Amino acid sequence: MINRCRERNGVSFDPWDDLNQYVSNVILVLVCGQRFQPGHKTLEICQKISDAFDVLLLQKNQFLIDNVPLSVTLIPQIRNACQSMKDGYHYFTETVDKIIQESKDTTPNCLYTLLLQEHAEGLISTENIKGVLVDSVLAGVITTKPTMYNALAAMVNFPEVQKKIEEEIQRVVGKDRLPGFEDRNKMPYSKAVELEIYRYYTPVGAAGHYPRLQLYRFLDDNGDLLPPENEKRQRLLTFGVGKRSCIGEKLARVRIFLGLTSILHKCDLARDPSESFPSSDPNTYETKFILQPPPYKLQFNPRH
Ligand code: HEM
Repeated sequence: MINRCRERNGVSFDPWDDLNQYVSNVILVLVCGQRFQPGHKTLEICQKISDAFDVLLLQKNQFLIDNVPLSVTLIPQIRNACQSMKDGYHYFTETVDKIIQESKDTTPNCLYTLLLQEHAEGLISTENIKGVLVDSVLAGVITTKPTMYNALAAMVNFPEVQKKIEEEIQRVVGKDRLPGFEDRNKMPYSKAVELEIYRYYTPVGAAGHYPRLQLYRFLDDNGDLLPPENEKRQRLLTFGVGKRSCIGEKLARVRIFLGLTSILHKCDLARDPSESFPSSDPNTYETKFILQPPPYKLQFNPRH
């Protein structure tokens, strides 16, 4: 993804499709043991089912579906979204089946093979397998992609924050390699920004947020990250709480941290002065189930 962004050589473009490929491929490796090249139908299907999910979860459509069940066949927007979900459901199960057939000798260690074992032991049905596969892909894509989209826009709206993350990357990681998992605990500022992005942009709206951006909220007076048991961190409910909290939290957090810092390691993000750019205030964004800014274009200027 970073290489593709750098190849544009500073010409502005909308990073949405590139984020789709990045986010979808990570979850697809876990689900079916394989990643897909840009332009592959599987990535298109990931985009289609997440668009369809967005339509089905619009408040007005939820109201219609709940109260006028016929809307599912009568209203073209809802009907098409349902059809895309059904197509995606069939496509995924067929594709994953094919991958497993083709790699019989080297069965990939992925979610699908684990589910097949449970099926062989009579614990779950094939319908369960299909449902869990599509749920995992959907849950893994629809949340993380808009969060990354918010994060990139935030770097342009708050250039001083981008600069500080870049300084921390320089200090901890240096020029010659990309940031890695092991760097996270040495990068309190970048981690605090990651948390602040969850708080300020609250991707899944139910959690709510205070309106002001508070960049130092998750840092103490020495610039260290507050520990997870600190009250301010405990109040961050981006991933829910309790038994039904998000099972993908750790994966999402690592992907967002590494995605953002790796992009900033290689590129300087800037707005194109000839294009409009979303406001830094998420209250101005259209109300959707998952919050995201309106479409925008960005310059990825190669750094070194
Ligand atoms: C920024 C990224 C993400 C956000 C903000 C997010 C947020 C949430 C929230 C708020 C819930 C509901 C918790 C509750 O009911 O209290 C949830 C549940 C869930 N999430 Fe995530 N999520 C993210 C990423 C992911 C990823 C990457 C996956 C899959 C790998 C995933 C899979 C799930 C599943 C399966 C549930 C349902 C859990 C259950 O009901 O037992 N999520 N998520």
